[in-house]
Amino acid sequence: MTPHRSRAFAPGRVNLIGEHTDYNEGLCLPFAIEMGVTVTAELRDGRDVVAPGLPGDDRFLRGTVAQLRAAGIELPGCAVEVASDLPQEAGLSSSAALCVALALALCGAAGATPPPPVELARLCSRVENEYAGAATGMLDQLASLLGEEGRAVRLDIRTLASEPVELRLGGHVLAVLGSGAPRVLAGSGYNERREQCRRAAELLGVGSLRDARDGAGLPDPLDRRVRHVLSENARVDHAVAALREGDAGALGELLDASHRSLRDDFEVSVPEVERAVAACHEAGALGARIMGGGFGGSVLALFPEEQELPDGAVPVRPGPGARLLQ
Ligand code: GLA
Repeated sequence: MTPHRSRAFAPGRVNLIGEHTDYNEGLCLPFAIEMGVTVTAELRDGRDVVAPGLPGDDRFLRGTVAQLRAAGIELPGCAVEVASDLPQEAGLSSSAALCVALALALCGAAGATPPPPVELARLCSRVENEYAGAATGMLDQLASLLGEEGRAVRLDIRTLASEPVELRLGGHVLAVLGSGAPRVLAGSGYNERREQCRRAAELLGVGSLRDARDGAGLPDPLDRRVRHVLSENARVDHAVAALREGDAGALGELLDASHRSLRDDFEVSVPEVERAVAACHEAGALGARIMGGGFGGSVLALFPEEQELPDGAVPVRPGPGARLLQ
């Protein structure tokens, strides 16, 4: 029997390290957080999928419905309700969480089996690319779908292999602090960075920057873009090693190194973010860095557990991945 009503939850994500590597077939180390988006979908007559609470032209809803139908899933008419405890434009992937929760709830209401996680992540990432105009990679969607309580997940975007990594912080906590500058992917420097990486790979004669050895000899700023991507991939594996050892000091240093690389080589920081990073350091952080696409959004920092967090900082813990609730 087709269920009439279905509810799904998809979490936002924090990316511990591995930034601007996903669209270069590189490595990332995100985890799903406990905050996220809940979507309830209820069957209604006709074929339209409507969401009275969302703007009529909501691109994510239109995109998700179109992509699910294109994937051969028979979606009947549905009324959709969205609730979220994720701040938008904070760099916590509210749009990926919305798409994933929509897809799971719509499939649930239709009595259809949703595509397996990697395929669903690809489908939702197409929605972001084709309907929202942001040429993002698959980091956010995979993190939301593959999250596990207490664990981060090492993603190899080339092979799409994922490996859970216990988040052993040895008496420390991770927290996010909004910079106050909204993060707007489409139309920001994000698409330009992606294009620069593509161009650098072309000039180096490699299929993606995953295969580059170094960017020496490329014109500025392409050489620095390559240096960021290669050093960031290496930092992901160093961070995995630090977590295995429970070495918070080493992890903090890696966060700082990632931030410097994103600020100086990849040039995705803005003054508000620099102020937020400085506030974290002043409050005793072992390391702090810009997170997500950049150009605003949130900062991620590592603090001793007993430390008082700076004003506005919110602790984040790894929670379970996206799922049907009912
Ligand atoms: C945004 C994108 C991701 C990824 C990050 C940078 O969050 O949605 O695909 O590229 O930026 O690591």
